[in-house]
Parts: sequence; structure tokens; C-alpha cells
Amino acid sequence: MPVLSRRRIGAYLLAGLLVFFFLSFRSLDTDGFTSAGRRPGVATSAAGDHPDGEHVTGRPQSRWKRLKTQYPVTSFRPIPTGTPLTLPKVQKDFGTESDADRKERLLRQHRVKDTFTRCWNSYREKAWMSDELAPVSGGRKDFFGGWGATLVDSLDTLWIMGMRSEFNEAVAAVANISFETSKEKDVNVFETNIRYLGGFLAAYDLSGDERLLEKAVEVGEMLYVAFDTPNRMPITRWNWNDAARGKAQVAHENVLLAEIGTFSLEFTRLSLVTGDPKWFDASQRVMEAFQTQQPKTHLPGLWPVLVNAKKMTFNEHTDYTLGAMADSLYEYLPKTYALVGGLLPMYREMYQSAMSTAIRHNLFRPMLPDQEDILVSGLVTARLEDGQVVTKLKPEGQHLVCFAGGMLALGGKLIENQTHVDRGEKLTNGCVWAYKASPLGIMPETFFMLPCESTRQCKWDEQLWMQAALEKAGMSINDINPEEAAAQIAHRRLPKGFTAIPDARYILRPEAIESVFILYRITGRVDLLESAWAMFRAIDSNTRTELANSALHDITVTEEKPSMSDSMESFWLGETLKYFYLVFSEPDLISLDEYVFNTEAHPLKRLLP
Ligand SMILES: *[C@@H]1O[C@H](CO)[C@@H](O)[C@H](O)[C@H]1NC(C)=O
Ligand SMILES: *[C@@H]1O[C@H](CO)[C@@H](O)[C@H](O)[C@H]1NC(C)=O
Repeated sequence: MPVLSRRRIGAYLLAGLLVFFFLSFRSLDTDGFTSAGRRPGVATSAAGDHPDGEHVTGRPQSRWKRLKTQYPVTSFRPIPTGTPLTLPKVQKDFGTESDADRKERLLRQHRVKDTFTRCWNSYREKAWMSDELAPVSGGRKDFFGGWGATLVDSLDTLWIMGMRSEFNEAVAAVANISFETSKEKDVNVFETNIRYLGGFLAAYDLSGDERLLEKAVEVGEMLYVAFDTPNRMPITRWNWNDAARGKAQVAHENVLLAEIGTFSLEFTRLSLVTGDPKWFDASQRVMEAFQTQQPKTHLPGLWPVLVNAKKMTFNEHTDYTLGAMADSLYEYLPKTYALVGGLLPMYREMYQSAMSTAIRHNLFRPMLPDQEDILVSGLVTARLEDGQVVTKLKPEGQHLVCFAGGMLALGGKLIENQTHVDRGEKLTNGCVWAYKASPLGIMPETFFMLPCESTRQCKWDEQLWMQAALEKAGMSINDINPEEAAAQIAHRRLPKGFTAIPDARYILRPEAIESVFILYRITGRVDLLESAWAMFRAIDSNTRTELANSALHDITVTEEKPSMSDSMESFWLGETLKYFYLVFSEPDLISLDEYVFNTEAHPLKRLLP
């Protein structure tokens, strides 16, 4: 999730892209970016703004349902029906556990729940109904529409952790959230979908409480209006106020891949549980356009990070990654296939084709001092030169792209491709490696490494590493003496293997533990439990405040305690702590053979035969 996009893109990344596209195309549709990213600063306290000053009465969804559709759909894509296929089993058959193992596991799980409970209680006391608690100052923040993001994101975690009285209190409170208005001028449609719609749907799937389905429909009715454009492509940074006034809308020209391509799980599930095909139809039209253009990009199989929703061309730009700005589009392909019990083969095909390309071009093995055989997923630029596609790999790792290990392991099980499972395992091992290699035991937001020539073997060469690190810092090893070179490296606090750490933050992200959790459920590898525990302890001890847990500015510090940025995004309670809890649970609690997690860790029920 983002600053902006799902997996919350670093603002600098977006800024870089904006400058790039401004310079090279000068056709930037800035409307699409007016609310780009989280604004710094504290809570907005502006009251919800009612368009037309009208008083809203009756059921909350009435405003969006009453609105006249400007570009009606004449024939809806039908909700998938038929008998779901028996898909290959995802989870390993776990045998019986020794008493000692169980005791250890439950102790760890209890510690995770303690951390969650502390944070929840502080949110409840200090920031109830706001999007976020400020975990150092005790203030409140509203960056995600002001509809209580932490409350909604935490509903299913409360249920899963067995906190029923807290769950009941929270469900009663959601009745008071109005999706008729927002504290924000522009609504981030993607974030609203994954956090709010996903949060309500999963809590409904788990508890069966109809009040939650009503809320899901309410959010769904609002989001559906963002698709009311001539070509039915959604507006991703959406001026809801203009829309509510009946102003005609057109989809934007520069849209992030993840933000336009991450609807299929929530929208399909919402259509399945309500029987109303309109949401499935809305998402399906977008995905069909992706399907048509998948073989026609500069790097066939993958789509570039920016696409043109107005012209419906998804194949023009040149940067290809599984990471920031793209991520959950890919993640949703195998997961949607699983959600509908295999009834939509297009998702399987799109996934397979995308991963063939990504495995070939984006994954690289980095040169490491212990020569560990891991993989990292980088960004590929593909350009046409003299009729030939020329690719260039940017060997950047991101915490965010750690989700890819779990995606490939899960996808590989679902389509029975062991190559995918193996690559997913090596990518996940890479994230575990990066946690262990960092002095605090927490991996940074972004980093660079040196790709090996071959994935088969990769000898450590300290000189080569130093040279690469100095080059990244704009120096050459030939121009300085060995002492100065060593001093420069030390000054940058680079653990061996990292050639640069451009963004040393840790913002309480989930993606590494997400993949460790999925891989553990698939393989039962006991070392993953130990890694998960080490990660949890490192994160909890370094981020703990008087009230809760806070994002960190710099995880490379060794002399002093890392400084805190007073931020606790809703995904800490919605995702990170949920995955830590589930990795130490009985494996049948939210089995991957019964549920798929949306990109905000909200488990949705799969169709089963
Ligand atoms: C909902 O809002 C009303 C009015 O502000 C308040 O009295 C009530 O306690 C709220 N309900 C919950 C469950 O928070
Ligand atoms: C499995 O995936 C790999 C990588 O995408 C591909 O090369 C291979 O053909 C696939 N195997 C099967 C049996 O489909």
C-alpha cells in the first residue's frame, strides 16, 4: 500500500517518475496526482464536506446509488458460475507437533497478540474513529479518507486473534462511518478498495455479520461511481465531490499500474456475496484490457508501471517491475484465479505469462559474502533500439517487493509449477537474509546489490563490492586510497553485500513476514518459524513506544536508538501483526486452501467445489 500505491510507494520514486514524464512527455495529467502520497504533518481536522450543502438522510449509500450513471453499462459481464475446480492443495500436511514445540509456538503467538492489544487499546483510547494513531505523540491522523482506516483494517485481526468483545465494539462503531463524505478532497480509490472494502468483506466472510456486508456495499457503491467514465476505466485519484455533483468524468492519462489493476479480488467477492454483477463487471473490463495488451508491451508478459487509462493503452511506458507502483496487479492474478475456484482461466494465463517474463528479466542473484543462494526482484527498463528490445536491469531491492516470494510460492502451488515455488522460496530467503544482515535485524525500505553474472555460482569479491558501492556514491576506487575507500563504505553504514541504501526507513511494513508466512504454510520449514520470531523481536523492540509502535527513520544506525517518525499506518494492525500471529497459529487457522488474502492481508473466502 503507498504513500501511494498499495505497496505504498516511496514518495521520491513517484517524484522521480513525475519529473521524468513531465520532461519527456509534457502531457502529464496532474489531476491524477493531486493527492499523491501521504502529506506530511498531522491530522487534518476539517469536517466532512457535504457537496451542495445538502443534508444527508436515510441509508448512507443512498447518495451514491441515487446518482445518475452518465455512462451506463448495457450488458454486464456475468458473475462466474458453475462448479469450482478442485485446485491443487496449497498447504503442506502438517503432522503432529511435540508438546515442547507447541508450547514455544503459543508463547510466541501470545507475544504477538500482546503487541497488537497494546496498539489497539491506544488507538481506541487516543484516536478512535480516526485513520491512524500517532504512536509517539498520541495524536491522530486522517490520510485515508478519514473513515477510520485503522478501525476497519483491524476488524478481521480482532476476530482472528479471538478478541470478540473488542470485535463487537468495533463492528458497532462502523455503523457510524459515513462514506457519503470524506475528509479528503481526492479519494485514493485503490487504498479505499484494499483497506475499507477488503476490510469489511473479510470481516464479513469470517463473522457472517450482516452489518459488515452493508458497509462493504456502501463502500462498493461509492467506488463504483469512480468507474463512471466513457470507457469505464476508473479514476484512481478521484474527486468525489465533483462526482457527487454529477460532473462528467474521464479516466486519467498517467495512472499507476497497481492503482488501476487491483480490484479483482474485492470486486469479484462483493459481486459473489451480493449477487449483483456490476462490481465484477467493472473490474473485469479493466482486466480484459490488460489481457489484450499483455503480449504487446516492450517487455511482453509484463505491463509498465504507468498506463494511460484515458486511451486505454497499457503498453507504452518503459519501466517494468514487480515492486512499487505495480505489485498488487500481479499479486491479484493467481489470487483471483483461486478466489473463483479456477472458473476464470484468463487469470491463470495472465499470471503464467507475467511470471515467465519476470523470472527471466527481473530476478537476479546478488553477490553476498556468505554466497547465499538468494534472489532479489529488480526493475527492468525495456526500450526499442533499431527494432530490437534492449533491457537494462536496475538491481534495486525493496521491502515492498518482498510480497513476490509469497506470490510465486502460492501461484506455483496453484498451477503446479515447481519453478515458481523455487523462485518464490529464494526471493523469500532473500528478504530473510536482508533482515539478518542489517544491524538492527530489520531490512531497509530500499537498497541496491550487485547482480552476479550467473545464478549457479557467485563468488564473493570484496574489491568488486567496494567498487560498486563507491560508484553508487559517485566515486571511483581508482581515485582514492584503500583507507579512504574503507572509510567511505563505513560512513555509509553498508552491511557487506549492499552497495547502497537510498531509503533506510522501516515503516512497519508487512511484506517480508507475509511471504515467510505463506512459505511456511506451503513448506513447513521450521527455520522459517525461527526467522519469523527473530524478525518480530527485532521489529517490536526497536519500534516500541509508550503507546504503540512507530515507523523508524533509519535502520542502519548502530550507535544510538533509531529515531521514530511518529507514524503507525493501519497496515501494522491489519497486516504485519496478523501475519506474525498466523505464522505461529495452528495451520488450519485461515488455511490457504480456503482463503486468499487481499493485498492488505484481508482473507476472502475461496469458491470451493
Ligand atoms: C455513534 O455516534 C453516536 C453519535 O455521535 C454516538 O452516540 C454513538 O455512541 C456512536 N456509536 C458507537 C458504537 O460508537
Ligand atoms: C513453469 O514456469 C517456468 C517459468 O515461468 C516455465 O519456463 C515453465 O515452462 C513452466 N513449466 C510448466 C510445466 O508449465
